[in-house]
Amino acid sequence: MPPAEQAPPRKILVTSALPYANGPIHLGHLVEYIQTDIWARFQRMRGHTCYYVCADDAHGTPIMLKAEDEGVTPEQLIERFGREHRRDFDGFLISFDNYHSTHSPENRHFSELIYARLKARGHIVRRTITQLYDPQKNMFLPDRFIRGTCPVCGAEAQYGDNCEACGSTYAPTDLIDPVSVVSGGQPEERESEQLFFKLGDFRDFLAQWLGGGHTQAEIANKQKELFAQELFEWDISRNAPYWGFEIPGEPGKYFYVWMDAPIGYLASFQNLCEREGLDFDQFMRPDSDCELCHFIGKDIARFHTLFWPAQLRGGGFRTPSAVWCHGFLTVSGQKMSKRHGTFITAETYLKHLAPEYLRYYFAAKLDDGIDDIDLNLDDFKARVNADLVGKLVNIASRCASFIGRYFDGRLSDSLPQPRMLEEFAEAGAAIAADYEKRRYGKAVRRIMALADRANQYVDAAKPWILIKDAGRRHEVRQICTQGLNLFRILAIYLKPVLPATAARAEAFLNLPPQQWRDAGKAMLAHAIADYQPLLTRIETKQIEAMIEDGKTQTPAAEPEEDPAGAQIGLDEFAKVDLRIARIVAAEAVDGADKLLRLRLDIGDSQRTVLAGIKSAYRPEELEGRLTVVVANLAPRRMKFGVSEGMLLAAGPGGADIFLLSPDQGATPGMRVK
Ligand code: 2FM
Ligand code: ZN
Repeated sequence: MPPAEQAPPRKILVTSALPYANGPIHLGHLVEYIQTDIWARFQRMRGHTCYYVCADDAHGTPIMLKAEDEGVTPEQLIERFGREHRRDFDGFLISFDNYHSTHSPENRHFSELIYARLKARGHIVRRTITQLYDPQKNMFLPDRFIRGTCPVCGAEAQYGDNCEACGSTYAPTDLIDPVSVVSGGQPEERESEQLFFKLGDFRDFLAQWLGGGHTQAEIANKQKELFAQELFEWDISRNAPYWGFEIPGEPGKYFYVWMDAPIGYLASFQNLCEREGLDFDQFMRPDSDCELCHFIGKDIARFHTLFWPAQLRGGGFRTPSAVWCHGFLTVSGQKMSKRHGTFITAETYLKHLAPEYLRYYFAAKLDDGIDDIDLNLDDFKARVNADLVGKLVNIASRCASFIGRYFDGRLSDSLPQPRMLEEFAEAGAAIAADYEKRRYGKAVRRIMALADRANQYVDAAKPWILIKDAGRRHEVRQICTQGLNLFRILAIYLKPVLPATAARAEAFLNLPPQQWRDAGKAMLAHAIADYQPLLTRIETKQIEAMIEDGKTQTPAAEPEEDPAGAQIGLDEFAKVDLRIARIVAAEAVDGADKLLRLRLDIGDSQRTVLAGIKSAYRPEELEGRLTVVVANLAPRRMKFGVSEGMLLAAGPGGADIFLLSPDQGATPGMRVK
């Protein structure tokens, strides 16, 4: 049998993005942790040194405000989520070598160090900027904590940085009628001095890094858009009150959460190095021959492929070998939603299903690209049951039972088809190449094709018939020895994905923890232990119970969460004055793509309302029609005039906007209750 190919040992530090310490881990997060964990486990099985570190991302305004809402300190809040996150990652068999926090002494040290070096080298500049300030809360507002009307299309309730209706990006100060999400009050513009990191100083280095194959080409190309801007700077400071590290020499100013978050990778690794006596500098000095590989979601590529390499470079450290991006998770083709029970937390999932089902399903779907991956629960069940139970486990359970029952648990001393075993071992090179390149779906397909061959072999040999013939019993032993040897190779190939199943297989095959190269060895005249059930089928009722459970879970606390399901009391609802209105006149608004100007009769008076429904209605088809209006909304000044109310409509937008209509008999001015 040819020896498994020998690659020179590598030293790798690998990370996944640091989850925010203000919400639970959910299945969307797990795409990344499972993807990274498979890669780290694979590298270790190949004999390389691979440290996998992570941490909670524990700073920033959302965490500060959530702690305030809950009446706890930010320290208490991040401690609780830190504990829950560790529990969930353990539950999914994520093999971190260390899990730390960005709110740690190591992170303060490295944040201050990198900042001091950037400053000493002239890469930090002060600029006075205008930001929105909430005078009730006495704080400057991050973009995501401001809502207002889009200055471009007039869509209402848009965030301070971009419009979900028309896709425009703008400064929060451009929003029409901005409202603070924190207090509900009107923010005002205030000037303040902030510190900026001059990324432009690193333009040549970044161009080279982006062209160096360290990230996917489409990600690299996207970053070049920002490059073209002449003033290429990044605001790294925030004013008090802010939850984070105060900037040395700048009282009342704090490092922006995205400044110290990636530095958390170094902090976590340093913490590991201290505990285990490892050499931090060997991995992080500028001329290091080790690898630094980050796995992240495509939404945070800019921070990791522009800002982070420049921070490291300017801070006197080595830069990343790789920043690999993945897509998002959809559930049955839709964004995860609490209402549909598809906002599934790690905790909920683990109450109903084994972690390896999801690890396998994600592996089967993942490749090296950035397309979203879909979890279709019917397909999930069918695929896991067919592949893992129907194919993989089937080989082992059939063969092991004969060896245990008739041959005292001992395998034969030769194989009937040694060449087949060699072919299985030879297939390892292509499977390893797929793992290495993060083409897990391809690796899984190759492994399952081998599992099909192994099953076909046992099916054709029919040991259950031969066993009845005393003169052919020795053949049964050989067939089952062949089958178990094939199974062992498959278990090795799937071990990065299914570490617990692989460990159970090692236990019943009476083998030490298997490495990749062990796929080339045969088990002959070997005593195996009693068969242990490896994995059971997924039952529909388990999935149904999980979905039901999912409907009662609290969604993550990020502000971008779909607020569907948030409850208000009757008192609050009673404050909304809903009236039947007749549209007496409707016209397009000059210069506005989406707005119609409507004159409404609400019984005792008339109003003008600007409504973003032009994409779905022609003005003439609206005239005379009854609908429902929020009559006591404070008048709002918009770019195209003042709007004195809001119409009720449903639908995703575009042509699919549906105005509500009352039944016949309703008349203008009637109150809707
Ligand atoms: O987007 C997020 O969830 C961030 N907490 C990721 C941070 S990754 C790294 F930079 F810390
Ligand atoms: Zn817009």
